Amino acid sequence: MIYLNGKFLPIEQAYIPVLDRGFIFGDGVYEVIPVYSRKPFRLSEHLIRLQHSLDGIRLDNPHSEAHWSQLIAHIIAHNEGEDQYLYLHITRGVAKRDHAFPLGVPPTVFIMSTPLPPPPQALLASGVPAITAQDNRWGRCDIKAISLLPNVLLRQLAIDARTMETILLRDGLLTEGAASNIFIVKDEVLLAPPKDHRMLPGITYDVVLELAETHAIPHAVREISEAELRSAQEIMLTSSTKEILAITRLDGEPVGNAKPGPVFQQLNQHYQAYKA
Ligand code: PDD
Repeated sequence: MIYLNGKFLPIEQAYIPVLDRGFIFGDGVYEVIPVYSRKPFRLSEHLIRLQHSLDGIRLDNPHSEAHWSQLIAHIIAHNEGEDQYLYLHITRGVAKRDHAFPLGVPPTVFIMSTPLPPPPQALLASGVPAITAQDNRWGRCDIKAISLLPNVLLRQLAIDARTMETILLRDGLLTEGAASNIFIVKDEVLLAPPKDHRMLPGITYDVVLELAETHAIPHAVREISEAELRSAQEIMLTSSTKEILAITRLDGEPVGNAKPGPVFQQLNQHYQAYKA
């Protein structure tokens, strides 16, 4: 069952008009929230980021935090699986095609749930390959915008190269992945790029830095150069749907000894314990 504009429906019965501004302009924002044992993970942090995205596109939040929580609880209860991930999507609504914001138009609000399997053991054990590409996205990558064409094209480069992710470089600096945040380990220190307009402020990114702090894993947030990425002892990606994965090959070259490293192992263990 999904939620669309005030109604709970089977997905087969959910339709939106072709003039929806999400369809016409990609004019909207979204969230992806993991659900573990039927409890949304870090819900208030996701709703705060949603508010940041809505503010970024100057769209009023259609619901209070309490109302979002109710809708989400209903969707979780009426979908399969102890572990799920929620997709929340809000557009500027349906209006005659005109770039200018329409006046007095209600937003389109959509929530769906998908089963969330744990990361496959084989991938955790071997790590995954990735490639690099120039980050040719816009200047507000901190907004979780539904207009994802650059991310889609960049991600497809990874698929075409039979790898898991495309790691993005802008002006010689690491930004993030096409659909994930990226950490490296250098001189035994976990390094993360700073949260700014060049990357999405990941909720999993925050959890990883908190776990590093709690468990006394040396860490720092600072800009990371392309040379540091290419010579890293470890590289890892994080996202709500992939959790933490070690990247063991970059552009065909081994990362460290091409096996998931000790910092990844520790963080993943702590993450698994934390989410439970
Ligand atoms: N994407 N950066 C980008 C560009 C992303 O699309 C995502 C997640 C992240 C990680 O953020 P978080 O830890 O909050 O999931 C970083 C989601 C999963 C998606 O678009 O499906």
